[in-house]
Amino acid sequence: LKTLEKMRKDVRILLVGEPKVGKTSLIMSLVSEEFPEVVPYRVEEITIPADVTPEKVPTHIVDYSGTKWPDLSLLSVFYPPHTVTNHWIPLITENTDKDSRVPLILVGNKSDLVEHSSMETILPIMNQYSEIETCVECSAKNLKNISELFYYAQKAVLHPTGPLYCPEKKD
Ligand code: GTP
Ligand code: MG
Repeated sequence: LKTLEKMRKDVRILLVGEPKVGKTSLIMSLVSEEFPEVVPYRVEEITIPADVTPEKVPTHIVDYSGTKWPDLSLLSVFYPPHTVTNHWIPLITENTDKDSRVPLILVGNKSDLVEHSSMETILPIMNQYSEIETCVECSAKNLKNISELFYYAQKAVLHPTGPLYCPEKKD
């Protein structure tokens, strides 16, 4: 019973990243299954009911407003790469409870605009931080990897592969 209860917990995903990387567009593309031509600055938190998610867990998706930091179970961080290490990861560390480390996913949106993958620049960052579960390249515009992105996010919370507890990092 305890295990079952544990499995039923909600997942709360926060999208953070540089302005205009497409956070709001991605949420709207996921919900409406089409690219929104006009996007508001941010959308209200949405809840995806358990039965339509791959892992059957209610999933809340939060568009980061830059003002308050909500309770969450996963962070999707949008790159450019240098801002991930210089800005976002320090900010996340500051705002999350050290004992319950929140897994991260790195998201490279607008893959429709680039010819080459940026995995080469992203891999060293992934290796540097054990809390980064995975990275995804996607496009809100042509709906590439959108449902996959949110599926990876659910999975990273429910079945993390990396160590969320890192003994050598503890002081
Ligand atoms: P802020 O809320 O201002 O921080 O921006 P945001 O990260 O929410 O980005 P938003 O969704 O507002 O998108 C910014 C611009 O990028 C808009 O003009 C979108 O139409 C465009 N955009 C978003 N996703 C994509 C994509 O996958 N491909 C292309 N080509 N354009 C995109
Ligand atoms: Mg926005």
